Amino acid sequence: MFYLCLPISIPNPVENENIYILAIESSCDDTSAAVLHNGKVLSNVVSTQKIHEEYGGVVPELASRAHQQNIVPVVHQALVRANIDKKLVSAIAFTRGPGLMGSLLVGTSFAKSLALGLNLPLIEVNHMQAHILAHFIVDENDPVPEFPFLAMTISGGHTQIVLVRDYFDMEILGETLDDAVGEAFDKSAKLLGLPYPGGPLVDKYAQLGNPLSFPFPEPRVDGLNFSFSGLKTSILYFIQRETKTDPNFIKDHLNDICASIQYSIIRILMRKLEKAVEQTNITRIAIGGGVSANSGIRKALKRMEEEKAWRTHIPKFEYCTDNAAMIGIVGHLKYTQGNFADQDISAKARYSI
Ligand code: KG4
Ligand code: ZN
Repeated sequence: MFYLCLPISIPNPVENENIYILAIESSCDDTSAAVLHNGKVLSNVVSTQKIHEEYGGVVPELASRAHQQNIVPVVHQALVRANIDKKLVSAIAFTRGPGLMGSLLVGTSFAKSLALGLNLPLIEVNHMQAHILAHFIVDENDPVPEFPFLAMTISGGHTQIVLVRDYFDMEILGETLDDAVGEAFDKSAKLLGLPYPGGPLVDKYAQLGNPLSFPFPEPRVDGLNFSFSGLKTSILYFIQRETKTDPNFIKDHLNDICASIQYSIIRILMRKLEKAVEQTNITRIAIGGGVSANSGIRKALKRMEEEKAWRTHIPKFEYCTDNAAMIGIVGHLKYTQGNFADQDISAKARYSI
């Protein structure tokens, strides 16, 4: 299918003004800082905390401590790699929420102190909006989505279908009633004895297996909402049953099990997307969040583009999982609107888009 590319245009209020945004992300277990110049990424440094691997999930207290250790070197590296002096920075953008409170507090306090010390405006950013608006990062090879479009945000903490009418005019049409899709991947991986986060490993093994080997039932959930807890339970019972008769079952069938789990998850996501398209008549689809790095989901969307004439927008890998570049593009957009935060702003663990 051939599409005309939209010109890459995001707002810049004063022609020829150089807007440099220093962005900070610390909502979960990645400490990240980025520098953007007029919406283009100059640097995007991500320090992923390895400590959680041995616990099989993110330990909030350890995440908070690791952010405290990482934040100064990560921000310093972002400025060094962007090759700019901090005096050039126009504003500091930071993730206010949603996320783990102890993690958010580190980025929020650091951003506030830095803005105060450098006498710079402060911009607060909603992490879930940032996963969607990551599509507006200026990149010559990537056309931006045209409004209105549907965004499916799929991460370790969220699963939502969002109607995006404008940069900051978004409506949640459906979301998960229990586990997030990333949790479905990670918890299934844990049942298979894989380390945290298991999503990328399920993806890796799935590419070598047959997706139709082991069928899992599809949940029945009304409207555009999702549910993944039933799938998790049926995978648990299936593994218990099979390993009782064959202790080597997981080892001998890992690729096929992963392919079947991934197939079931993708089927749930695609069915809901089809329903959302039917309901809204909008065929422009963007995905965002860590799970959008999944190769099967990316392929399924591309197939929909061919079969259903959807226009799909899939972020680059580095802008799928948590990163500060996506915080920076929201910072840029809010800067152009003069939408700044006060110094008395605080982090918000629950923060809807
Ligand atoms: O957006 P993100 O980095 O952090 C949150 O805001 O939650 O998403 C992390 C989630 C984890 O559950 C991880 O397993 C999942 O994204 N993930 C993947 C893949 N890469 C990351 N899941 C499936 N396939 C992948 N390739
Ligand atoms: Zn995220």
